[in-house]
Amino acid sequence: MTSFYLSKPYEPPQAPANLALGEPWALFGSISPDQFMARYWHKKPLLIRGAIPAFTLSTQDGALLDSPISAKELLKFALQDEVEARLVKSNPWSFDNGPFSKRAIPSINKPDWTLLLQGMEAHHPAAAKILSWFRFIPDARLDDLMISIAGIGGGVGPHFDSYDVFLIQMSGRRQWKISEQKDLSLNPNLPLKILRNFKPEQEWVLEPGDMLYLPPHVAHDGIALDGGCQTWSVGFRSPSFKELLQEGLWRLAESLENIPALESKFADPQQGATHNAEQLPEELIKQLGSKLKELKLDQIDGFLPGITAYLSEPKQQALFDAPDRPLKPNAFLKKLGANRLLPHLQTRILSLGKQVYCNGESMTQGQATDILSAWQSISAHKELRVGRLKQPDQSSLYEAYLAGWLVFEH
Ligand code: SIN
Ligand code: CO
Repeated sequence: MTSFYLSKPYEPPQAPANLALGEPWALFGSISPDQFMARYWHKKPLLIRGAIPAFTLSTQDGALLDSPISAKELLKFALQDEVEARLVKSNPWSFDNGPFSKRAIPSINKPDWTLLLQGMEAHHPAAAKILSWFRFIPDARLDDLMISIAGIGGGVGPHFDSYDVFLIQMSGRRQWKISEQKDLSLNPNLPLKILRNFKPEQEWVLEPGDMLYLPPHVAHDGIALDGGCQTWSVGFRSPSFKELLQEGLWRLAESLENIPALESKFADPQQGATHNAEQLPEELIKQLGSKLKELKLDQIDGFLPGITAYLSEPKQQALFDAPDRPLKPNAFLKKLGANRLLPHLQTRILSLGKQVYCNGESMTQGQATDILSAWQSISAHKELRVGRLKQPDQSSLYEAYLAGWLVFEH
């Protein structure tokens, strides 16, 4: 549908800061983020026609809009090592991981294939801007923005995900069928996770600008109705308690390294003579119990720094390059006074109260108050506007700049 008309790329705006959460947002048609979260989030599917009104308006005034990223530009990402890409063919079903050679990717005019590009917010600013609209949901829940591009008939088959997902139609049309069926058994004979008995309950054709929200475990099947069909999926992760507790406990154990008093040895001058020599001494159990209490190891607060650090880890394939010609501390300070400092697109930042964690590490512990508030601003607003700082060479801010985790706006 797109190739017959002259079209121009949609340029998604950055979400303004502090948009009212109780007012209707175009993204949700006539409801507010507050209402969306209360009625639908993690509960039931929602179809929103014209979630991006610019597309609807463009069909009315004749200046058609298309995806911010052209098919040609998108397909090139599948050739790169640093982009996680998968190719699914549906007739018969086959599956391959990237990076791909140019020849391995079917032409847009060929049917029954789809290419999935993961983590696109790190590779294209338009994808990062689309994500900025979803910051009414905690950053800790965000996984990434995946873009699929397909030939007519292409799709990944009927399946379910364990994640919440917003499926935004960006180019061409896609037919979505969904079902809240209980039977989620998979077909054992296929190379992909495809449901054995998919029984669609609802179906829609999504046009560019429409969006479908699905909570975890709702069965769905999306089939491209046009060559070059693009769906942008904003996906949210939900770690298991096992993962959270294991990661938290592991980091908590590591943090004990920094407490010299723990080198002192268990002493048992009160130990009496015993007939049960095989038993772990009562005295040891008692003293260990009071150590756990004293160190607050039996309280949730002790786990949270480790868990926040863990959840702020970047994706496995994230790569950070140090700046080509790094500024010396004073030049860094001067530039901070005039330019915005931004997280690199692959950087993850999370806060726990006033403490800030970036790419798996604490950035604020033991730092001066001006550095602390600089990090708090970067964490909350994803930018630091014109900072006035002292002693940048000893700060975690300067170190994060040297590591390529923070970059100056061009
Ligand atoms: C797609 O974009 O084709 C697949 C997205 C999904 O079903 O999760
Ligand atoms: Co899915």
